[in-house]
Amino acid sequence: MEHLLQQIEEYKKEIAAFSGADEKTIEEFRIKWLGTKGLVKTIMGEMKNVPNEKKKEFGQILNEFKQFTEAKYEELKASLNSELRTKNSELDLSLPGDPMPLGSRHPISLMTNRIISIFQRLGFAVAEGPEIEDDWHNFTALNLPEHHPARDMQDTFYVQQNPDWLLRTHTSNIQIREMKKGKLPIRIICPGRVYRNETVSARSHCFFHQVEGLYIDENVSFADLKQTLYFFAKEMYGHDVKIRFRPSYFPFTEPSAEMDISCMLCKGEGCNVCKKTGWLEILGSGMVHPNVLSNCGIDSNKYTGFAFGMGIERPALLKYGINDIRLFSENDIRFLKQFTSAV
Ligand code: DAH
Repeated sequence: MEHLLQQIEEYKKEIAAFSGADEKTIEEFRIKWLGTKGLVKTIMGEMKNVPNEKKKEFGQILNEFKQFTEAKYEELKASLNSELRTKNSELDLSLPGDPMPLGSRHPISLMTNRIISIFQRLGFAVAEGPEIEDDWHNFTALNLPEHHPARDMQDTFYVQQNPDWLLRTHTSNIQIREMKKGKLPIRIICPGRVYRNETVSARSHCFFHQVEGLYIDENVSFADLKQTLYFFAKEMYGHDVKIRFRPSYFPFTEPSAEMDISCMLCKGEGCNVCKKTGWLEILGSGMVHPNVLSNCGIDSNKYTGFAFGMGIERPALLKYGINDIRLFSENDIRFLKQFTSAV
């Protein structure tokens, strides 16, 4: 039996070394090894000379040999096929691809999304509201009754056909609409475009963007407001940013505060951007005025809340080093495509 084993080993070596590349030699390989008179058949025939007690062991060896030969044959066929395919195809895989022009997000959207994602991590949901608003939602409900002098703080565009309609001057109208729905608690962040009748220049525009925040529940305190805005400022401007609150006035909040952050350009030393103060004003905030709650049908003895509002253009100007607010709305593709990979 020894010679049989030896024979098989030699055959295996011969098969492994075979490297016929064309159809003809591969067919010759098949006939020589796997054909009806091929060597595999012949050596299988040796089984009848194997003594009974060795039949099982040998049977296995022979089977393995057969599989080995068949696998080699399949491999040869496959390599021939793939060679044929590349030879015959029109496709040249080595050619450089056609560039696919990718759009880019607008820097205002990038900044808005960034602000939203920070508040979402604190459980704030996004809410939106109409840009064409009525006087009540934009002013009266926010504790700015008719003839209130604070209405002059915002130069309003009115809709000619109906003087009760206007282009919202701030995103605070969304607060009112959400509170009116009566589902408490409320924890929302509200991005949107707002309009004011201002002369267009490098620093101001007749429309811009804001994000409003509102949190109403039982026992919401000024400490909650501060902690929320601290978290926001650190996430947004980095952990070594300094923060300060200044008392302020808004008709819809009492008490009210504005939040400043240390100027990131001069690190608080004083530069042109922070007008030599070392601080940048970034948002207005306060505890929702009880009148506003009751205007929306919320029991101000049971519920309290805080609100805040911030512009989006200014942080975007600072972040991307842009010096003219008008660039945001000119749709100059050379400007816009610079933000392709910005986050
Ligand atoms: N609505 C204010 C504005 O447009 C911003 C603002 C200030 C919103 C304080 C608020 C707030 O919700 O509490 O200037």
